Amino acid sequence: MSSRCRVVVLISGSGSNLQAILDQASSHYEVVGVLSNKADAFGLIRAEKANIATAVISHKHFEDRLSFDQAMIEKIDAWQPDLVVLAGFMRILTEQFVNHYLGKLINIHPSLLPKYPGLDTHARAISAGDTEHGATVHYVTPELDAGPSIVQAVVKIEAEDSAESLQARVHKAEHKIYPQAVQWIAQNKVVMHSASSTLFEGEPISDEQLKVRVN
Ligand code: GRF
Repeated sequence: MSSRCRVVVLISGSGSNLQAILDQASSHYEVVGVLSNKADAFGLIRAEKANIATAVISHKHFEDRLSFDQAMIEKIDAWQPDLVVLAGFMRILTEQFVNHYLGKLINIHPSLLPKYPGLDTHARAISAGDTEHGATVHYVTPELDAGPSIVQAVVKIEAEDSAESLQARVHKAEHKIYPQAVQWIAQNKVVMHSASSTLFEGEPISDEQLKVRVN
């Protein structure tokens, strides 16, 4: 990308990852729009404070997922994004939406994928007796939480951890890796190669490049 990468962020709630992405915006990327499916999402206030355009499209006003997704596509495309970032966006997206942005749609998931797709990841990691947990930034493909990874934050699970304390540490780690992933994509360092692989500077990502240890 010759000029700054135009980033659109989709949220449903607090938007602390959005905040981290805004705080670390650089000469490589700018956030040009924030879309929420909830009018009371705190992330909208964060965006307004940063003078970023916002929009609310409530899924409740649509008969089915496809018409909701089509309304979102129309709004998002008006911002002419190079990259669409899901940051706590709590709706399942249709295959049509995902394919429309394939290769330029990313998500952050609170687990070391492919472990624990879906919900309650922190409690599941603790009850499985895992020693490590974390978060994954990945390209989005039609299969839920299954697209190729870009970067993972690895967090140690302590004996005294509850799901809440672990979640708090993982959340903090997310704020480091998500802006990093956006920056890499904006710099063209990272690209999605196929539904199961990501290239880092032209080579398949190695495990060492993928994993960042944060405690
Ligand atoms: C994060 O935990 C992320 O992993 C998940 O949704 C949460 C969003 O948090 N996908 P925030 O709204 O960015 O604070």
